[in-house]
Amino acid sequence: MPNPDRYAVLGHPVAHSRSPAIHARFAAQTGQLLEYDRVLCPLDGFAMSVNGFAASGARGCNVTVPFKFEALQMAGRVSPRARLAGAANVLGFDGPEPALWWADNSDGIGLVRDIQQHAGLPLAGTRVLLVGAGGAAAGVLGPLIEAGVADLVLANRTAAKAEALVASHAALAAGHGAQLAAASMAEPGRGFDVVINASSSSLAGAAVPVSGAVLRPGTLAVDLMYGAAAAPFMAWARQHGATARDGLGMLVEQAAEAFCLWRGVMPATAPVLAALRAEVDASA
Ligand code: ATR
Repeated sequence: MPNPDRYAVLGHPVAHSRSPAIHARFAAQTGQLLEYDRVLCPLDGFAMSVNGFAASGARGCNVTVPFKFEALQMAGRVSPRARLAGAANVLGFDGPEPALWWADNSDGIGLVRDIQQHAGLPLAGTRVLLVGAGGAAAGVLGPLIEAGVADLVLANRTAAKAEALVASHAALAAGHGAQLAAASMAEPGRGFDVVINASSSSLAGAAVPVSGAVLRPGTLAVDLMYGAAAAPFMAWARQHGATARDGLGMLVEQAAEAFCLWRGVMPATAPVLAALRAEVDASA
């Protein structure tokens, strides 16, 4: 029997990552022979860790906080969506040398698929508020535009960062006929169809950084995090009559896209999301 192909998630911290469990389920479901581990990288040692992992014969890795920007710089080939996001969460090793690596970003398509397929809300023609302008927001902005949103407002505590993201995505938005603008947190607009929290405010113990007026009954309010980190945003959204959703579906969908990039087969995500949801609820 051949040795399994090896993959891992590289990050700091990484012990909490549910990616190994997700990929093990995908592998079992599709009959793919692979192993998927966690690699804790020193904060100043991502390059060394990823080089070592690739040199050991591994086939690829996921990259998580805080190395997604560095990962983009290391690969010989970078996909257009990773280039636009300025960050990569997937690396493929077609050999041990960085020149033979490719980098991609599956976060944004993961969010889009979760909203459309699992939450059941077609994004075409919607008005969307995206809160935050860090790495998480940068990863999802392009795919939201490509999904056909009519109007996307980007609100961030530091206005200059929102303006920079709007500028880097202006051509894409124009090409898709989408309105794209930066707004202040104080006055981002009202009654959006979808509100996405891509800020890390709740991790910092801070309140949800926008007014409840951005929601209306039936708004889909999505936090990109899950578990305790998403709880304050979801409670706030429910208080205002919105439908609250955490980032678990996005987590499973971004993993499925990475799996497909590596293995050439797309796993069924609904049963994996249901199993993960049960585990997370049980540990809450
Ligand atoms: P990530 O990769 O998770 O996006 P990041 O790049 O550090 O992390 O970005 C964090 C985001 O959360 C930023 O948009 C940040 O706002 P600033 O650009 O003004 O720093 C936002 N954020 C963090 N703490 C916040 C808080 N207490 N209130 C509002 N926004 C906050």
